[in-house]
Parts: sequence; C-alpha cells; structure tokens
Amino acid sequence: MQGMVVRDTRAWDSVIELQDVSKYFRRLKRGGLFHREYEQIHALSHVDLTVEKGEFVAYAGPNGAGKSTTFKLLCGMLAPNEGAARLFGTDPIKNRIPVMRRTGVLFGNRSELWWDQPVRASFDWKRVVWDIPRADYDARMARLTAEFRLDGFMDAFARELSLGQRMRANLALALLHGPELVLLDEPTLGLDVLAKRELIQSLKRVNREDGVTLLVTSHDMDDLRDMAQRLVLLHEGRVRYDGSFDGLLAHADKGDFEAIIARMYEAWQPEEA
Ligand SMILES: Nc1ncnc2c1ncn2[C@@H]1O[C@H](COP(=O)(O)OP(=O)(O)O)[C@@H](O)[C@H]1O
Ligand SMILES: [Mg+2]
Repeated sequence: MQGMVVRDTRAWDSVIELQDVSKYFRRLKRGGLFHREYEQIHALSHVDLTVEKGEFVAYAGPNGAGKSTTFKLLCGMLAPNEGAARLFGTDPIKNRIPVMRRTGVLFGNRSELWWDQPVRASFDWKRVVWDIPRADYDARMARLTAEFRLDGFMDAFARELSLGQRMRANLALALLHGPELVLLDEPTLGLDVLAKRELIQSLKRVNREDGVTLLVTSHDMDDLRDMAQRLVLLHEGRVRYDGSFDGLLAHADKGDFEAIIARMYEAWQPEEA
C-alpha cells in the first residue's frame, strides 16, 4: 500500500481544544510618575485542554487563575497570544457565528433577561432572533420548564426574580437554541447551598440525558465536590491538575499544591462575623 496516511482524527472530533495557549495582558504599573510603565500579566501560560463530546468538566481555580479568560478565548471574544483555540475543530474567531450556534454561554454575573419585561418575553425574543423552529421551541420549552421549574415565574418581571430563579431562567435561555456545548462561568456564585445542589443536579441531567457537553467554572470546593466527574484545576494561568475530585484531595497533601487548595477554601468558607 502506498501513501497510507495515519492521521489522528481525535483532535478534530473534540468539542474543545486548547493547544499550548498563552494569553498576556498589559497593565499600567502604579506609581510611575514620569513615564508610563507597564507590567505583563500572564493570564494563561501554555494551557492544553481537550474536552470530548458528552463530557462534564469542572474548570476550577482560585480567583484570578484565568478561568474567565479561557472562556473569552473559547467564545472568540479574545485571541490567544500564542497557541490555538478550537471549538468543534474550528477557530472561534473566524467562525464565530456557526460556532456560537452550537454553543451556549453564560457569564455568572451577567443576565440575558430583559430586566423590565416578563421572563417569557426574553424567551420569545430569542426564538425570533435565533429563528428557532416552532416545534423545536415547544419541545425544548417543555423540557426546560420542567427541569428548571420555570412555571412559577415566567410571567414575573425579570427584576423581581430571586438570584436562584434568575440563574435558572438564564440557564434555560442559554439552552434554548439546542447547543451541543455550554460554557458556564461561575453559575453557582452567590447561591445558597440548596440552590447550588439543585442547579448542579440539573446540569448533570442536561449533560446525561440531553447529551450536552459542559464546561463549568467554579472556585467553590463544595460545588466541585458535587460535580467531581472531571476536574481541571487552574492556578496562575497553568493547568495544575486534571482528574477526579478525590484524586485532587489526595494530591493536596503534596507541598505547594496545598497552598492552592487552601486559597480555594479561603474563598469558599463564609467569613466569621
Ligand atoms: N482585560 C484585562 N486586562 C488586564 N488584566 C486582565 C484582564 N482580564 C483578566 N486580567 C487578569 O488576568 C488574570 C486572570 O483573570 P481571570 O481570567 O478573570 O481569572 P478568574 O476568572 O479565574 O478569576 C488576573 O490576574 C486578571 O487580573
Ligand atoms: Mg472569573
């Protein structure tokens, strides 16, 4: 046989692929009286990450680790300084629209809901703008209404919702166009323990039953324990661990790793009054 090409096609099947990605920011140094001095921040350094279809990955790390920066690269909002980011095998900047059709994104501190409108209006709006066929829309709404218990507040104004309700509505909205991949940045931030548990259980079902690939960031040890399936731990822009939650805790005994975990616990534990 002549010219047989043995090619690793795995890379092209992956939902997410970061190859040796580095991202730097320039920040003005304080106190420079006479000339502006900049310092370079290595938000991400040589990050490799592959996520396959159907996975549920917790993307963990203390504040400032580079989690949100990673998401911005994946959404095509930022370009890496070095390396390459691919979603569904393509460049998310060059192919932003087709990539975003297959992806749902939620940055925890933002809301996609129309503040001064009934929640329902935001869903209707998305159906029109995304041109979602009626039958798909109805089927998904039935599923999402049951999963995120939307019934109780579809007619309430978005501004009247509790934080937990708002997060559920936003998640349902992010799933409305039937994405294969969903990126959630700190979705459990600020929720009480019960609301968190409930949200994570919902995400697990969305992953298992609807086959949606999930990448979810958190700096909260409690959430990570519940998600646990696969945990990628980022610290100062580098991937420091990729494995199970139990494996992480076993690892934590070893030297400087302990400090990373300690920082995460610090952020996690409620402050004493
Ligand atoms: N636009 C920016 N300009 C300058 N520095 C930034 C910018 N965005 C993020 N950073 C810095 O990059 C690092 C990683 O930030 P981020 O990705 O937001 O971390 P995380 O989401 O894990 O808390 C931090 O040191 C942060 O201050
Ligand atoms: Mg962040």
